[in-house]
Amino acid sequence: MKITTKNLEETHDVAKDFVASLNAIMKNDQMHEGAIVIGLSGDLGSGKTSFVQGVAKHFDIDDKIISPTFVIQKRYEMKNHKNFKNLVHIDAYRLERPEEIIRIGWHDLIKEKGNVIFVEWPEKIAPLLPEGSKKIVFEFIDPETRKLEII
Ligand SMILES: Nc1ncnc2c1ncn2[C@@H]1O[C@H](COP(=O)(O)OP(=O)(O)OP(=O)(O)O)[C@@H](O)[C@H]1O
Ligand SMILES: [Mg+2]
Repeated sequence: MKITTKNLEETHDVAKDFVASLNAIMKNDQMHEGAIVIGLSGDLGSGKTSFVQGVAKHFDIDDKIISPTFVIQKRYEMKNHKNFKNLVHIDAYRLERPEEIIRIGWHDLIKEKGNVIFVEWPEKIAPLLPEGSKKIVFEFIDPETRKLEII
């Protein structure tokens, strides 16, 4: 599915629909094993972090979502959510080797049902992404316009 957004608010609207689809998956699919992992691909400034900010807003997370480029990982607890426990935001941009993600507890993170994990620059850890990971590709069209493809 491809969507063009004309400003940040429209990207946050897409994030809202995406949260609704995640809620539906968790409600209907009792057999879903482990965390839900979503790779966010696309150039610098294409809107990956902005999308996660929209997701957090619609999960009613009040914390300020800042880019985890330097810390690699940020975790936000979803205290009031029935099905989800943590929103995990990873930026793999600065990793030199995929194995470096293991040090932040990657294997436990992806094992835990109730974690929803967004990974910016997923190509950096491609061999370690679990089977069935989702993907969103962001494309910069012009300063205000982005194309999002949800795969
Ligand atoms: N339609 C749009 N959708 C999303 N962001 C937009 C849009 N129009 C303008 N922007 C702006 O583009 C910038 C996107 O930056 P953001 O940090 O989300 O990119 P990123 O893909 O995470 O980059 P990086 O790879 O450096 O982490 C923000 O400043 C945002 O306000
Ligand atoms: Mg970013």
